Amino acid sequence: MNQVLQTAFEEAWITVGCVEDVPVLGSRVVKSAFGDIAVFRAADDTVFALRNECPHKKGPLSEGIVHGHSVTCPLHNWVISLRTGEVAGPDEGCAGVIGVKVEAGVISLEVGRLAGGG
Ligand code: FES
Repeated sequence: MNQVLQTAFEEAWITVGCVEDVPVLGSRVVKSAFGDIAVFRAADDTVFALRNECPHKKGPLSEGIVHGHSVTCPLHNWVISLRTGEVAGPDEGCAGVIGVKVEAGVISLEVGRLAGGG
């Protein structure tokens, strides 16, 4: 799934691969012109995507441990919601959430929001 997304700004969604490409309780990194995106797959096969950058000190969230619908950052163990990007207390912060669509097992990411700085 490692690929560079060269997309037009107005192209809001881009297909990046299949759910089966992402290991259960793991992740894959998608290179984008707007920064790396970590695509996660939970045990229940829900797919999430965050900017691959912890809000603490930019640790690679793709290398974190997925549990439930959260990921624990590999650097200092902050716990981040895969759904909202919010950091669990007592720590504070928010990782950038990327919209995900799964249709017939194919994952699309909302890179248009990245292009807009979101
Ligand atoms: S960089 Fe993620 S917890 Fe510190």
